[in-house]
Amino acid sequence: MDRIEFLKTASSAAVLLCLGISLESCSKDDDKKDLASNPFSFTITESPFNALENDGGWLLHPEQDVLLVNVGGNIRAFTSVCTHTGCSRQWSFPSGNFRCGCHGSTFNTNGNVVSGPANGSLAEFKVERSGDTVTIS
Ligand code: FES
Repeated sequence: MDRIEFLKTASSAAVLLCLGISLESCSKDDDKKDLASNPFSFTITESPFNALENDGGWLLHPEQDVLLVNVGGNIRAFTSVCTHTGCSRQWSFPSGNFRCGCHGSTFNTNGNVVSGPANGSLAEFKVERSGDTVTIS
């Protein structure tokens, strides 16, 4: 391989790499995980999930991209992949709304947008509770 051929190959690979990263970061395909096929469970009395035992308690699941909140005694679960540009790990819960720390969008406990820049609701997952075991699907 001569020098020019090497540079052509290397630059093509660099372009594909850049495109791959760019397309992945913009992908909306995994905004809602397929938890129906791969549900997960936790014990609500164990830390950190015991934060959900009281009305208004919330947490970002430490391993799943799922926001959990207790609304009037019922646990609700939403994707933590923000509908703006896909940030998933910088959430807070001021004044009873989810706030994405990337650009400040807020969502209520129904997953609906309260303020942008996001303009789409957070997808909700099914929640089943049996005793202290909560299953998200
Ligand atoms: S990614 Fe959440 S507000 Fe921009």
